[in-house]
Formats: sequence, structure tokens, C-alpha cells
Amino acid sequence: MQPVASSAIAEIDDSVPDAIDPLALSLNENPFPPLPAVRSVLIKSIDAANRYPEFLPERLRNLIAGRIGVGSEQVVLGAGATGVVLQTLQALTIAGDTMVTSTPTFDGYPIIAQMARLNLVTVPLDKGGHNDLDRLADAAANARVVVVCRPHNPTGTLEPTSHLFRFLRRVRSETIVLLDEAYIEFTAPEHRVEVSALARRFPNVVVVRTFSKAYGLAGLRIGYGVAAPELAATMWSHQLPFGIAMTSLPAVTASYNAEDELLQRIRMITSERRYLRMRLSALGIYTTDAHANFMYLPSKSAQGRPWSEVFADSGLRVRCYPDGGARITVGSRASTLAVLSAVGK
Ligand SMILES: Cc1ncc(COP(=O)(O)O)c(C=O)c1O
Repeated sequence: MQPVASSAIAEIDDSVPDAIDPLALSLNENPFPPLPAVRSVLIKSIDAANRYPEFLPERLRNLIAGRIGVGSEQVVLGAGATGVVLQTLQALTIAGDTMVTSTPTFDGYPIIAQMARLNLVTVPLDKGGHNDLDRLADAAANARVVVVCRPHNPTGTLEPTSHLFRFLRRVRSETIVLLDEAYIEFTAPEHRVEVSALARRFPNVVVVRTFSKAYGLAGLRIGYGVAAPELAATMWSHQLPFGIAMTSLPAVTASYNAEDELLQRIRMITSERRYLRMRLSALGIYTTDAHANFMYLPSKSAQGRPWSEVFADSGLRVRCYPDGGARITVGSRASTLAVLSAVGK
């Protein structure tokens, strides 16, 4: 190995983000650091970092499939939901195909569409911040892929399951429906769709989920996709060898074993969201009816200022949008108080 000059060493930044930063509200991260049980298996797994993980992530696939009640052959893994979406597009589209999404949406979609060399067609959200499922279905008539985020990012809104099924019945079977459920664990159980039944009924649907949000493991990059066996087989043929880090299996196993603690954290986040929404409403600030770990403040503040200006000097990092709206991740009570203080000024 070449010796490294000491000045070069001084310039290398090996810092990691602060786990508990109440001002970091722009990426919809979980405000809690890993659960003790997850932390301890992660530390153990680092001791074997000189070894490769499994060639293809069969064991993680089996674990997740067993947990959600589908066959192992229906599950694919990726570097977060982002990796799964890219893999899906690489496996199921060709350059020049059309992909339809709502706008605004998760920032990753335009980037991934470009990486897969797809034409992106966008459909505005309706006035309440919901996916306009009728217009999405119309636009999907000539598309290879249509994306529905449920709950939606950035608004957190959730279409009723009956509307989703009506949409799915309208989309022709040659079009892949990418149902992005990155935040599904934050929704009430009655809003969730059973994924095994969905894949049986709609063989063109790919459900995408992640351990980044409710499970609080964004830095480990673990996501999965679920589809009918035939579709999943094509996606699995694009599974990157040695592509899933060896920390993933122990972290997911420990997370599944600590479900009670995770559910408690989810309840804390959703009740903090309700509290923040109520306090903002008392200040005359409307927020969308969000079912995730964030909320959306449409257009401008009461004084007509874009939210980007309102938050500019607060030190808070929130996601601002060109229409003047802002998306705020729900964090700890300290984050909530910082948000209220900024908007109250
Ligand atoms: C709707 C949606 N999908 C997917 C992702 C990607 O999540 P990850 O790649 O961390 O799993 C995000 C992240 O913010 C998101 O909001």
C-alpha cells in the first residue's frame, strides 16, 4: 500500500451523522437510534467484515417472505427501496419506455427514471395532496410503469384501499404498477393491503418496502420488493451478487424480534405527528392529513412568506418545494418545539 501523506489524512472526513439531531427534519428519517438489540448484533457482525455476505441474499429473502406471508420466490432485496426500484426498472423496462408518477413525489423517482433511461410523465396531485388515481390510470394507458406511493411523499396522504383497487383494475396488465409502501408501517392496519393477496390478484404489481423509515435503519440500506412469482423471478435475475451487506440479515432478524419496542416507537412518532398538527392548526396553519412520519405545509405561511424563508434562520433542515410548500419530518418533542418556535416568529 502507498503511504498516505499526513496532510491528506487530515483532510479525510470520516464523520458520521449525529443520531439524535433534533434539527434534521428533511429526509423523513426515524428520530430514534437503533434499538439496543439491533445495535448489539450490528456490532457483532462487524467482526466478520473481512468475509463476504451471502452470494445472493437467500436467507434474508426467506426471513422477510416468512414474515409477510408470501413465498420466498416472491421477494427481492435492494439497497433501500431506492435500490429495489432501480432493480425493478432494470429488470422490467427498456430504454425509452414511459414511467408515470405523481408530482411532486419522492425525489428519487426522477433520478432513477433517468438512470433507467425512461421517459417520465408526471401527473399533479389533487388539491388535497392525494394521488389523482384516475388521471394516473389515464396516463398509464401508454406506459410501461406507473408509480403510486401510498402513503404519498411529500404529502403523507393515503387513498382508501377501495380507490386503490379501482385504480389497479383500470390499469392494463402489461403495465407494471409500482406500489411504494415506504411508510406503510405508520398507517393504521385497516388501511393496509395484504400483499400476498394483492400479488395473486394483480400479477403486474410490485410492492416496495424499506427498513429505512419505521425500522429506523436508513444508514444500512435495506429494502425489498414483493411481486407475483413470475415477475419476481425476472427481478431476482437482476439481484446483484454480494450486493446486500452482511449487517442486513442480523439487523432485520433483531428488528423482527423486537417488534413490541418498534411498535412503541411508531406509536410515539404518530402521536407526535398528531400533536404537531394540532399545534400548527391552532396557529392557523393547515397541514395535509398525513399518515407517515412527516407532514406537508402547502404553499405559503399566513404572512404570505414561502416556508423556505420562515425556516431559513431557524437552523432546522426541512424540505422546501418550488410552490412554497414544505415537508417536515416528525422528530422528537425537541424538534416539534423548534418547528413551533420557527413558525411562531
Ligand atoms: C416514497 C419513498 N420511497 C422510497 C424511498 C427510499 O427509501 P430508501 O431507499 O431509504 O429505502 C423514500 C425515501 O425517502 C420515499 O419517501
